[in-house]
Amino acid sequence: MSDLTPQVRRRRTFAIISHPDAGKTTLTEKLLLFSGAIQIAGSVKARKASRHATSDWMEIEKQRGISVASSVMQMEYRDCVINLLDTPGHQDFSEDTYRVLTAVDAALMVIDAANGVEPQTRRLLQVCRARNTPILTFVNKMDREVQEPLSLMDEIERELGMSVVPFTWPVGMGKAFHGVMDLREEQMRVFSPGEDRKTLDDEIIDGLQNPVYAERFGAEYEHARHDIELVQMAAPSFDEAEFLSGKQTPMFFGSAINNFGVREVLDALVDLAPPPSNRTAIQREVKPDESKFSGVVFKIQANMDPAHRDRIAFVRVASGHFERGMRLKVVRSGKELRPNTVVSFLSQRRELLDEAFAGDIIGIPNHGVLQLGDTLTEGEALQFTGLPFFAPEMFRTVEVADPLRTKQLKAGLQQLGEEGAIQVFRPVAGSMLLLGAVGQLQFEVVAHRLEHEYGVKARIAPSRFQVARWVTCDDANELKRFIDGNSHRVAHDAVDAPTVLVEYAPELRAIEANWPKIKFHALREHA
Ligand code: G4P
Repeated sequence: MSDLTPQVRRRRTFAIISHPDAGKTTLTEKLLLFSGAIQIAGSVKARKASRHATSDWMEIEKQRGISVASSVMQMEYRDCVINLLDTPGHQDFSEDTYRVLTAVDAALMVIDAANGVEPQTRRLLQVCRARNTPILTFVNKMDREVQEPLSLMDEIERELGMSVVPFTWPVGMGKAFHGVMDLREEQMRVFSPGEDRKTLDDEIIDGLQNPVYAERFGAEYEHARHDIELVQMAAPSFDEAEFLSGKQTPMFFGSAINNFGVREVLDALVDLAPPPSNRTAIQREVKPDESKFSGVVFKIQANMDPAHRDRIAFVRVASGHFERGMRLKVVRSGKELRPNTVVSFLSQRRELLDEAFAGDIIGIPNHGVLQLGDTLTEGEALQFTGLPFFAPEMFRTVEVADPLRTKQLKAGLQQLGEEGAIQVFRPVAGSMLLLGAVGQLQFEVVAHRLEHEYGVKARIAPSRFQVARWVTCDDANELKRFIDGNSHRVAHDAVDAPTVLVEYAPELRAIEANWPKIKFHALREHA
């Protein structure tokens, strides 16, 4: 127990994971409403008039309706400080999303009850599972004709490999959606549609077996009662340890757009999701309530606000007490930072932040001093582990249309590369830069941003490469020999890590066989 323990215990840092259109934006808005962070229902959605939300900043998102940027919302609810990290929904941005997921302590999975488990949910969930992130599940859109709740539950269990513990159960669906039974409180919350409804007005009926139910809700109640009996016999009871290790997920039903069932999820987050815990650095485990500050850069966003034209490093506080103006050391470079204009994020407004504790996210404007994966401390040499970079699966060459703007191209790509929007490779032989991405859309975004933010029209053309692997070796001489011997297919990435690029997977296997001492990595962790 330290002075900081109470502050740490009241933090909840989470992200919403879902397939596009499942209702993440809608749910985010309702969560913000509860905390008073925004006042008017519809204000997030209204800004999405051209399909963009409070949490979306960039021009390109307005055009495409895809959350390219992740952002952070902080709100107070009950006694807790809740940090909600937004994740881009489109699969082409999954790399960025994966890194955001390294900065959270829990995730809220939103499932569209009509569509069940969708591909993007599955991928994101795998990342959470790999990190043992606890997951709460919200089954949305019960006001529509959707799948049977039992089959949804079964699908989640089978597809996602977690056991599901229903905390609530729906009575009816679509036009005959009557509400949800709270299986733990043993009461029913009666549904009434309407966007601006406050849940305090909800009608509550006591008991799971109240005779009123059959009278008022007829066949739908009978159906739900039958399901509930089955579920109570078959489903496991809630087990905190299983939940905290990501093996069991509490499930809630509702309708985000009608603000129904949302408060229950928020309460569950406060009651069940864990506060910040220890984080692993190469040197040691770091406790969240240690007095000295430490944090890790998990995201960099350039030119987030056209009015500011700067780069913001998103830092997850791992320990200590951050105060504006304090001296921080970038462990990788040894450079000192004294951020005076640190920003926190509340809805779309950027506000100056005075202090932060473990679990909070701070935004540090900088001009390239901070890179993805950097650790910041008050002086101690610590390097946090676990920020993933994935080997790109698509490659393009990039050239500038107007040779006089080569410098701007390089500067732009350097920044976009450091931000993680794209991976930039400098081949050992030859001068043409290579771009690597996990999804096609990343190239389009980069071309767009080069043009609008750096004034460079880039020519992006197909490249023959298809596969990349980072290469390392315990023996530095052997690594040098490898690089020299393969200079036609080795390139350096944004942090100078050597990478071998090949056209076909069999070619890679041949190289691996020929160079037994060299290690080939599809995933690079910043270290
Ligand atoms: P996303 O951020 O996950 O992509 O989803 P978003 O919240 O934008 O929701 C996707 C669509 O689903 C929106 O409709 C939204 O209104 C609708 N939706 C969200 N929650 C519910 C719900 O509980 N019930 C029903 N019936 N619909 C819901 P849209 O037509 O695509 O957009 P809009 O024209 O309504 O803005």
